Amino acid sequence: MDAFVITGGKKLKGDISLGGAKNVAIKICLASLLTDDELILHNVPRISDVTIMLELLKHLGVSVLWQEDILRIQNGNVKKFHVPLEVGARLRTSSMVLGPLLARYGQAIIPNPGGCRIGARPIDRHIEGLRQMGATINYNSSDGYFYAKTDGLSGITYTFPKNTHTGTETLILASVLAKGRTILKNAAEEVEVDDLIACLSQMGANIKRSNPREITIDGVSILGGTEYSIMPDRNEEVTFAIASAITNGHVTVYKSQRNVLGVFLDTFRKAGGVVDAVDDHTTIYARSGQLHATDIVTASYPGFMTDWQAPWAVLMTQAVGVSTIHETVFESRFSYVQEIKKMGAEIEYFDPNIPEPENFYNFNWKDRIQGYHQGIRIKGPTKLHNAILEMDDLRAGATLVLAALAAPGESYIHGIEQIDRGYEKIEQRLQKLGADITRIHT
Ligand code: EPU
Repeated sequence: MDAFVITGGKKLKGDISLGGAKNVAIKICLASLLTDDELILHNVPRISDVTIMLELLKHLGVSVLWQEDILRIQNGNVKKFHVPLEVGARLRTSSMVLGPLLARYGQAIIPNPGGCRIGARPIDRHIEGLRQMGATINYNSSDGYFYAKTDGLSGITYTFPKNTHTGTETLILASVLAKGRTILKNAAEEVEVDDLIACLSQMGANIKRSNPREITIDGVSILGGTEYSIMPDRNEEVTFAIASAITNGHVTVYKSQRNVLGVFLDTFRKAGGVVDAVDDHTTIYARSGQLHATDIVTASYPGFMTDWQAPWAVLMTQAVGVSTIHETVFESRFSYVQEIKKMGAEIEYFDPNIPEPENFYNFNWKDRIQGYHQGIRIKGPTKLHNAILEMDDLRAGATLVLAALAAPGESYIHGIEQIDRGYEKIEQRLQKLGADITRIHT
């Protein structure tokens, strides 16, 4: 097990370049199942979620080769259609294999990915769409696997009952080779979905976003290989912007995704952050002086992403006044709160009074566990101090790193394998900005 030792209180200054987007890379790797030709991928982040996805693909029969920074994937010999439980437990996105395996091979067996550190995270919206396309999917509660089969998927018009990012992508991966036209309504607008669409289109798929929340796919009989460069990770950009502001630093982000961070940038500026656009792909983040409290309600794109609320909460510990965060996408995403409270943060939970919660929240209200809270109030500014910290989720992990960077003294962060899931060599990149952070083996 690894841990980070961080001595905080140093201003971060300098340049940092964004890695490839995790939430695109793992889906494009899955797209390799849809063709026998090679995918040549650039800007794939070397993170553990990608490694696990590649292990799964190898287990199924796909060949995977890293040539320096280029990833070559070729599906020549898929003979297995079953996701081992151990892989499902480490990477819940492995369940998305249902889409391409059903489309190409008419069969798939996946462990139930439900049950996760950030909430129940069922896949009912994915399953229902695939069933309507002609798949038979049975859940065996005694072994916890979904057994899926089809004699051929057909195009349908499917309206997602609520937003789902990976659900939209699973149905896209299923429908590119299906018979006829599929229209996905109330489809996710996340920009990562569009990067997957761009890659699939290069492979020969016929897909277009017909309006912001509608995607039309005309099935084709065969897809080919392609060479594609994955978009930079906008979640990394938010993390580094906050790292700069919270340490009163001055950080230049290369490969900036500023154009798809609208609501984040507005909120950052409102809170006292400075965003300086150097050119299309370079943004400087700093702060102008005292930070101000904000109220955030998380939402799907183009709203304030759920992935940003944990890092934002740490920033708000340094703002004057009372800030609120209302999490509406996941039913449990405040695991970091107890940890930053150990560092002196003043945070209390509250329950927003929503008249029709079952319609309002993105998660299924009926799945909610009693005792979860959807809101927090953060009173600031507080001087954070060092602590021994533990994490159980990727974004919570990055958040604790940010808190430790702001807190004078030596902090220990355990469970950093969670951070390695989504940030490539984060400690080396922060060191270049002047952070005192070391990885140790415990
Ligand atoms: N949901 C259901 N049933 C479904 C699908 C979703 O109840 O069939 C619920 C989920 O439990 C959640 C809400 O609906 O409460 C939204 O889920 P969504 O499907 O949109 O989320 P996801 O696809 O599982 C992806 C990203 C997340 C990101 C969210 C929101 C990937 C691999 N994950 O999750 O990223 O927070 O969309 O944009 O793309 C992360 O990178 O740390 C991360 C968690």
